Amino acid sequence: MAEGASVVFKLYCLAVLTVMAASYTVLMRYTRTVEGVRYYSTTTVFVTECAKMFFTLCILLKEHKGSIRKVTQELKGNIVGKPMEMLKMSVPSIVYAIQNNMTFIGLSNLDAATYQVTYQMKIPCTALLSVMMLGRSLSSMQWIAVFVLTGGVILVQGIGGEAVSHTSGTEGSYVVGLTALTIAVFCSGFAGVYFEKLLKGSDTSLWVRNVQMYTWGMLSAFLGVVMHDWQNVRENGFLYGYTPLVWLVVLLGSGGGIYTSIVVKYTDNIMKGFAAAAAIVLSTVASIMFMGLVVGWMFVLGASLVIAAIFLYGLPKTNTEKLPARKSGTAQNV
Ligand code: C5P
Repeated sequence: MAEGASVVFKLYCLAVLTVMAASYTVLMRYTRTVEGVRYYSTTTVFVTECAKMFFTLCILLKEHKGSIRKVTQELKGNIVGKPMEMLKMSVPSIVYAIQNNMTFIGLSNLDAATYQVTYQMKIPCTALLSVMMLGRSLSSMQWIAVFVLTGGVILVQGIGGEAVSHTSGTEGSYVVGLTALTIAVFCSGFAGVYFEKLLKGSDTSLWVRNVQMYTWGMLSAFLGVVMHDWQNVRENGFLYGYTPLVWLVVLLGSGGGIYTSIVVKYTDNIMKGFAAAAAIVLSTVASIMFMGLVVGWMFVLGASLVIAAIFLYGLPKTNTEKLPARKSGTAQNV
């Protein structure tokens, strides 16, 4: 893929990512709470990492016009030949593995609305970490936009007033769910920004970075299986409870991961949050128009806040394909 991707391409990636992420959340929750047999979520995280590795290798093979020899050479040079780079990629990868396991715990213990609302804390958390770790600078107006966006999404997601109620699970599991999700929020922000730093701070291609990352991802996810579900897996099998819908969760999770990496390369982690919010609003508007969905004032207010935030942030003008250049220790505005 060419440097300096077109706006249409960026919008396409953001739209696909959002649709995948939304369906992933709904389906993951459905398979954990409604379907009969409980599959082991640690195995799903592992299988998803393997699927991402498989897709990434296919893309690399396509980029090298089907030459397995060239792909092997490139990977050897970047994995065996650059152990330090490989080691650095273990950080976001392991943190993502923790995040992916925590979201399963969160979704298994909280109702969908509480989950969605709490998870939106990713937006300010990611913005703060982008400033601290990438030297990006946000104007006061952009900071206001970040918080307006967070408030807007919370209102939009809280349609029907169920946002603050916790209808599923016991009090104990509610605390477990919220704690897991809070950890997931920090992991999401930190791993996303760290991955962006490594990706944009070197010439190593996105797909090679992904192979490095998914190698660690597979290892740490496997460790998760061993530590948490090994006895169960030995008794019932690795793929116990895998219905076609669980495979769909794997497919959406892996596709979502790959698109996340593309979006981070061509835009940035903060914009990813803005796009996700805009898409939630757009999909709800589509449901109102075509499926007769009825929404209350909370949605109208939330949607207005999201739109206002996009303009306040100055989204169309912002180009963050490269990291801000640091001049004598201070970060430039991007
Ligand atoms: O919730 P959030 O947007 O932070 O989730 C990002 C997801 O994208 C994680 O599940 C992570 O495993 C995945 N990802 C990936 N490849 C990357 C970067 C992120 O699969 N290069």
